[in-house]
Amino acid sequence: MYSKIISTGGYLPKKILTNKDLEKKVDTTHEWILERTGIEQRHIADDKESTSSMATKAAEDALKNSNLKSVDIDLIIVATTTPDQIFPSTACIVQNNLNINAPAFDIQAACTGFIYALSVADNYIRTGFSKNILVIGAEKYSNLLDWSDRSTCVLFGDGAGAAILSANKDKGIISSLIHADGQYNDLLSVEKNHIKMKGNEVFKVAVNTLSNLVDETLTKNNLDKTDIDWLVPHQANLRIIKATAKKLSMPLERVVVTVNKHANTSAASIPLALNEAVRDGRIKEDQVILLEAFGSGFTWGSVLLRY
Ligand code: COA
Repeated sequence: MYSKIISTGGYLPKKILTNKDLEKKVDTTHEWILERTGIEQRHIADDKESTSSMATKAAEDALKNSNLKSVDIDLIIVATTTPDQIFPSTACIVQNNLNINAPAFDIQAACTGFIYALSVADNYIRTGFSKNILVIGAEKYSNLLDWSDRSTCVLFGDGAGAAILSANKDKGIISSLIHADGQYNDLLSVEKNHIKMKGNEVFKVAVNTLSNLVDETLTKNNLDKTDIDWLVPHQANLRIIKATAKKLSMPLERVVVTVNKHANTSAASIPLALNEAVRDGRIKEDQVILLEAFGSGFTWGSVLLRY
């Protein structure tokens, strides 16, 4: 049995913070941010918005776009690094908000969270435990940022994306690969409630690791890079995205890019990008899609699917 993404949804807070706005907060420039990262703006949640409220809105959007009702969902998985509270899990809060009677749990794998969540969901569907799983990536990174640290506060944004996976006998997720290596935990972590990152070193490991991951995914599935129709990467930095696209010999027109508008929304970045490309019609039925991410831990992984 395959796990097929039957619908997607997304939510972005209304408030937009541009690079120009950030120039007023820290010693930076629009040009520096754009050149080093590709980011032009990010969405920032207001005080009333939480990870769970954004996750709920993204999930409602995905449900509305499906032919399912909330009673049909038999598992909820939320990937987040910024839960409302340590417990209850964000997934349980979403479960209550949506009045869904199903088990619910969170997954924490930083920016790779959505890939980890899809991998877990895929296994629940393959084993027959679940039929329809709501998988959400939701983050409120604005809470974790030190707004006086120019090296990190310009990089992140808030938002939530969702996908509904349904058991399908013909097509869906072809493979999911997840990895972790805890030896680099000092390069990217949260200390005293703020993100600390050695950006330059993270950058180098990310580019190398994602390059190897692309090779591993293609080899494992006996595929050539020309078999991939769309790359939907984690959106941390346009230069990292371009390096992975180059490895796949893919023109940027075949890569879904949202980092310019959303910045890095961690576990929410892939489902938000996927939702955008599905909804505007770029991603079409039967196409082969490669999702990949790299994040703190370090964690990294890919999901290859036939849409
Ligand atoms: N505005 C202006 N200058 C800034 C700045 C900002 N917002 N942030 C840092 N700088 C400065 C640094 O202080 C440094 O100055 P110095 O040379 O005088 O010391 C200079 O810019 C270069 O810094 P560096 O960190 O080497 O830049 P970089 O080219 O590596 O770009 C990142 C920085 C963070 C954009 C880049 O390293 C990156 O994207 N890393 C990976 C991040 C990532 O993917 N993280 C999440 C993984 S999920």
